[in-house]
Amino acid sequence: MKNSDRDWWRQAAIYQIYPRSFKDSNGDGIGDLQGIISEIDYLASLSLDAVWLSPFYPSALADGGYDVDDYRDVDPKIGTLEDFDEMIAKLSAVGIKVFVDIVPNHSSDQHVWFKEALAAPEGSPARNRYIFRNGRGADGALPPSDWPSHFAPSAWTRTTNSDGTPGQWYLHLFAPEQPDFNWDNREVQEDFLKTLRFWADRGVAGFRVDVAHALKKDLSEPFRSYPKIGAFENPLTGDDVLFDRNDVHEIYREWNKVFQEYDPPRVAVAEAYVRVERRVLYARPDELGQAFNFDLLEAPYDAPTYKKLITTAIEFAKKENSSSTWVLENHDKPRSASRFGLPSDIDMMEWVTSDGALAVQDEKLGSARANAAMMFLLALPGCTYIYQGEELGLFEVTDIPQDQIQDPMWKRNLFVHKGRDGCRVPLPWKSTGSSFGFGSDGSHLPQPSWFANHSVDVQSAPDGTLTLYRKALALRRAMQTTEDYQWVETGDTGVLHFARPNGWHCISNFDGAPFAIPQGEVVLASAPLVDGKLGAATTVWIKA
Ligand code: GLC
Ligand code: CA
Repeated sequence: MKNSDRDWWRQAAIYQIYPRSFKDSNGDGIGDLQGIISEIDYLASLSLDAVWLSPFYPSALADGGYDVDDYRDVDPKIGTLEDFDEMIAKLSAVGIKVFVDIVPNHSSDQHVWFKEALAAPEGSPARNRYIFRNGRGADGALPPSDWPSHFAPSAWTRTTNSDGTPGQWYLHLFAPEQPDFNWDNREVQEDFLKTLRFWADRGVAGFRVDVAHALKKDLSEPFRSYPKIGAFENPLTGDDVLFDRNDVHEIYREWNKVFQEYDPPRVAVAEAYVRVERRVLYARPDELGQAFNFDLLEAPYDAPTYKKLITTAIEFAKKENSSSTWVLENHDKPRSASRFGLPSDIDMMEWVTSDGALAVQDEKLGSARANAAMMFLLALPGCTYIYQGEELGLFEVTDIPQDQIQDPMWKRNLFVHKGRDGCRVPLPWKSTGSSFGFGSDGSHLPQPSWFANHSVDVQSAPDGTLTLYRKALALRRAMQTTEDYQWVETGDTGVLHFARPNGWHCISNFDGAPFAIPQGEVVLASAPLVDGKLGAATTVWIKA
């Protein structure tokens, strides 16, 4: 096997599909696998190496499918295992591999194991697959510890015994419908090995690992206090109570052995909101291979910041023999075209919750910056992730009525933040018609009227964002014949320039004066040049 086959993911372009919102084939308002199959040509037109599917497993959708009832099946609302096999075969025929999402920190409360646990007595093996404890206080009425959840005030929910009396408490770092597994339990560990093989056997090339840094907790009692989940500024020592503990890596070393059973070896990408020094540990060659780099998902659009974050990310990834990843958007964060069109000190969650009233977004600037930033990342060494709709230049949808919000962040967090639905609205495929071509009868989240301007047909015009993405992604392959790059001094703090040793140059004017570009063939620009110069919020690729 050539190294390029084994290492295909090191410099790949991977497109995230949020299945419920991609394309609906049967008119029930919910995207499905047949919908994906019907758009294989569209995916092929993007020159992708792989698609990553967010969860499509049976789920009551307490958290958009990140509450899994059964890890080895397809939700009947989305399709069947046969549809999945058909999808993989047809994607493979056009050279696109598939990643699936593995959600190992928690199941749903509808999972057969959790039902068994609730029905079983205290201290039973069924309860030991999760984290059940007695409450504190005289009658156990207080939660076992002060641990907070992401979506609810407390990470503990009390159960009710079959005779109606209050029972033990169980741990959930997310919604109460998402009970955390006990990863010290061998049965849990083995069940996930089985799940990895199940999908790898079906031809899946890789896995995206949900909250990869949370699986191991310090369960020694009395529990240590953990008063706040804030900026995830976890210590670098790996002995935190709940996150990024050193022993979590044992799990991934065991997973890697499963990956190596396959040809080419399977790979995975960690979702771990930790600092770069710790993030790259998940990406080690004997662990997952990759880790999401979320630095630019939140960073301001600013040249010195980009230069620093990019340099550091590449340097640290190299140290662990991995390559960096680049992410501007995903299903958890507001759309980049909105973020870049707003003052950088705006709290995006507050802005969404205000229905966009907190500040007016500058759409033109936001779009120009989003396109420029994406072209900049696509030219860097490493693997770029693109979130569905990013290629259509979608803005965040801020006016979803409160009674239609699906994100548990809203209800479970006591209506503090409206949450993440604004980037999960079904895609517009056409500028007219029912649900803008998403399906034949409505969409599970309401689409705003401005989606018409961002539909696939409109954005396929010569000056459309989709056209730019198609061109950039197709050209990109020629740049990724090397993993090296070098910064070139520009003499302007608002302008960044790097060169690849194979003759490609990428120059981005963030907010500098019109910049005179060096000699060479201008292969692609994210916006027209102004009098031959590179204007602000524009990226250009040059072949020397
Ligand atoms: C990850 C997912 C997010 C989900 C959470 C709990 O952060 O990306 O959508 O809510 O994990 O599974
Ligand atoms: Ca459907």
